[in-house]
Amino acid sequence: MTYKNLQDLLDAGVDGRHVLVRSDFNVPLNDAGEITDPGRITASLPTLKALIDGGAKVIVTAHLGRPEGEPNEKYSLKPVAEALSEELGQYVALAADVVGEDAHERANGLTEGEILLVENVRFDPRETSKNDAEREEFARQLAALAADDGAYVSDGFGVVHRAQASVYDVAKLLPAYAGTLVEKEIERLGKVASEPEHPYVVVLGGSKVSDKLGVIEALAEKADSLLIGGGMCYTFLVAQGYDVQKSLLQDDMVDTCKDLLEKYGEKIVLPVDLLAASEFDSSNAETRVVGLDGIPEGWLSTDIGPETVKKFAGILAESKTVFWNGPMGVFEQEAYAEGTRGVAQALIDATKNNGSFTVVGGGDSAAAVRTLGLDEDGFSHISTGGGASLELLEGKDLPGVSVLES
Ligand code: 3PG
Repeated sequence: MTYKNLQDLLDAGVDGRHVLVRSDFNVPLNDAGEITDPGRITASLPTLKALIDGGAKVIVTAHLGRPEGEPNEKYSLKPVAEALSEELGQYVALAADVVGEDAHERANGLTEGEILLVENVRFDPRETSKNDAEREEFARQLAALAADDGAYVSDGFGVVHRAQASVYDVAKLLPAYAGTLVEKEIERLGKVASEPEHPYVVVLGGSKVSDKLGVIEALAEKADSLLIGGGMCYTFLVAQGYDVQKSLLQDDMVDTCKDLLEKYGEKIVLPVDLLAASEFDSSNAETRVVGLDGIPEGWLSTDIGPETVKKFAGILAESKTVFWNGPMGVFEQEAYAEGTRGVAQALIDATKNNGSFTVVGGGDSAAAVRTLGLDEDGFSHISTGGGASLELLEGKDLPGVSVLES
């Protein structure tokens, strides 16, 4: 795959030029609207700094959540603009609209090395429209922000699997380049997708089997072991005949799990013990480590158990390549975080002691690494993409990347 990168743009010269950058600032917020994991903002800095240093007039587009095509204060990029200003050590103005009067006036008024963030692109229904003409019209208005001599830099890796106006259509309207984050992600994840050194171990968690079905099938063909924990393991356990009581269950996926176990049973490794809790909220819950058939009546499992962590860690210790996506339990509550912490630590140990190439797929697992205070440098790569990294590993076309191909 060949495409022009940020260095090509810098070589062409950005001084005084408008550069439109698509970043992924879809960060988690708490109830007070504060950012709980700024990982995606931090990851966007190298590209933005390089453009600022080059004297570009930088206009950044991004989405936050799924506001369904209309302005909604809850999904405003205001907290992002503040965090970005702090990280860059320079004021980042936030336009009141996306392609309206305020965005245009501010974009026109930029001077060399200044940066403007326009409001959430998903406030406009055309961003995600299935109608090509609608998306193209919106993309033309986004491109117009960058004036006649503008360029486009795609740096929101987490969103390159979406054929949306600010990711895909706009790249056809301006000279388009891959930012350093997109380039790095494709290089690192591409290595896992195309030439994994064996043993290749995939660790999957998170809540929904259905979301990860494609990747389970695709990776079961390539990987040597698939370790399954987190919310999705209970549907597999039910498929094996266990009673998981009130644990998370996707009833309609039990048969699919049976089929997967039949087809790839030798590779799929399920928990051997669980942490059971009397209720979801750990502050009032009684907890107990139990065997697979030992969840007390009316309780639920909120994490994998210590024997499972040991079993998974043993397999990971022998690995040469690891891809991990999805927490092993409800890690947001400390009482249920041990499984996720133990597996993350096993990846770090495999990197250090066995030279394993370990990749953490974005979303919740990347957030877990940071919120649990683990050493981020202990992994070979922490991706900013959740769905995007899974689709890349599945071998699917990523529209936001293929559109950059030259
Ligand atoms: C993500 O969080 O995976 C990306 O920002 C994409 O968001 P989306 O799933 O709402 O398109």
